[in-house]
Amino acid sequence: MSLSIIILAAGKGSRMKSNKPKVIHQVAGKPMLQHVVDTSKLLNPEQIIVVIGHESEQVKESMQGQGLIFVEQTEQLGTGHAVVQCHDELNTGNDILVLYGDVPLIKETTLSALIAKGRQNNVVCLLSFDAIDPTGYGRIVRDNEGLVTAIVEEKDASEDIRQIKESNSGILYIKGTEYRELLAELDADNAQQEYYLTDVVKHAVARNHNVDAVICTDESEVLGVNNQQQLAEVESIYRLSGANQLMTQGVKIVDPQRIDIRGTVKAGHDVIIDINCLLEGTVELGDGVEIGANCVLKDCKIGKNTKIQPMCIIDQSDIGENNDIGPFARIRPETKTHNKAKIGNFVEIKKSTIGEGSKVNHLSYIGDTEMGASVNIGAGTITCNYDGAYKHKTIIEDDVFIGSDTQLVAPVLISKSTTIGAGSTITKDTPEGQLSFSRAKQISITGWARPRKNK
Ligand code: UD1
Ligand code: CA
Repeated sequence: MSLSIIILAAGKGSRMKSNKPKVIHQVAGKPMLQHVVDTSKLLNPEQIIVVIGHESEQVKESMQGQGLIFVEQTEQLGTGHAVVQCHDELNTGNDILVLYGDVPLIKETTLSALIAKGRQNNVVCLLSFDAIDPTGYGRIVRDNEGLVTAIVEEKDASEDIRQIKESNSGILYIKGTEYRELLAELDADNAQQEYYLTDVVKHAVARNHNVDAVICTDESEVLGVNNQQQLAEVESIYRLSGANQLMTQGVKIVDPQRIDIRGTVKAGHDVIIDINCLLEGTVELGDGVEIGANCVLKDCKIGKNTKIQPMCIIDQSDIGENNDIGPFARIRPETKTHNKAKIGNFVEIKKSTIGEGSKVNHLSYIGDTEMGASVNIGAGTITCNYDGAYKHKTIIEDDVFIGSDTQLVAPVLISKSTTIGAGSTITKDTPEGQLSFSRAKQISITGWARPRKNK
């Protein structure tokens, strides 16, 4: 049976005190709703329908191009009413999973377990949890045999029912063949005068359908975000779980409260990560890699035993083994360094290859460059790769030595074993093994006096 996922995201979220709709507030650099969509996709649903209402254009805009179906709920008359709005779009016959755009940490494994249990001859299967403090949640009512008979919202609950700890996460499975009938029975005859989705439980039981629940043992997965405090709490849980995954791989994290993992990190043995690092996208760290404080690594691979000193940014690059990078290095997309390369402070490298053992140690810009092995680039060397319209390549062959404060005006070839004198502007290819320089002759003027202010 195919699956349709409905994500409720129409609410205003007034307690966020924000002009942005709640579900596009970010956790780990992406909208909460995007987290829910990404997890949904792991379940291979036939369709994902997002119910939007408040500031719907903003929500649509930040969720474009992902094949989502948007349904407008112009008036927010309750969670049941929100699901009813999807009738025209829902594929008849699909099983239905209802998720929430403001419950971003829910895991695929939990949802798979819920769907699996739902499909075991149940018409409704809900995801409950034993709340430390159940205030505000719907309570799960069970009969003497432990079978779920109803969900009662706190505002409609008697004192006895309020004592129940087992709470409704809101997340729910409904068998496709029955949902139209069950939803048709909803009414707004309750304390909030809303159409409660939770009432499908009561109606299913009245029809002698089987209703069951999966108990989620990790309350943080079902945490809903209603205000800035909860948003920060969810961010912190996300951060810690990312750190935990890395520590499970054997990484030493100097302070698990001060690292942000926003993607997938694969790490070898004896990796150390100092404080305040941000790892984004797909990052691979070889054995013995050390990352200093305050580094940002995005979609990159760092070879064995490479040291990245503090304050470096490495983006979409492939760093070799035994490299020494930083502090304060910026390595931009499509850079590859071979083993034992050194990239020092205030150096920017873009779309370049740095050969084995080559060094760019201070204050340089290397762009669109192919550099061989054992090259030494002096401080303040700039590859002039842009003529205002086009980018051009610089080729630096093996064993080249470039003096400080040199400009290499591309396209240009610096042949093997060239030496370039400091302060040169190189516009022509250099011959192999020779000294090349372009420099005005130094003169000294006898008797010259520095200007002085009149007293
Ligand atoms: C709901 C559940 C409650 C559960 C709790 C978990 C119902 C009746 N109650 O209560 O049992 O314990 O979630 O957090 O379902 N929404 C819409 N359209 C609407 C109403 C809500 O899209 O008309 C969306 C909201 O944006 C929100 C979600 O549904 O993301 C939950 O709505 P909310 O009103 O916060 O439900 P609760 O009262 O918290
Ligand atoms: Ca409500």
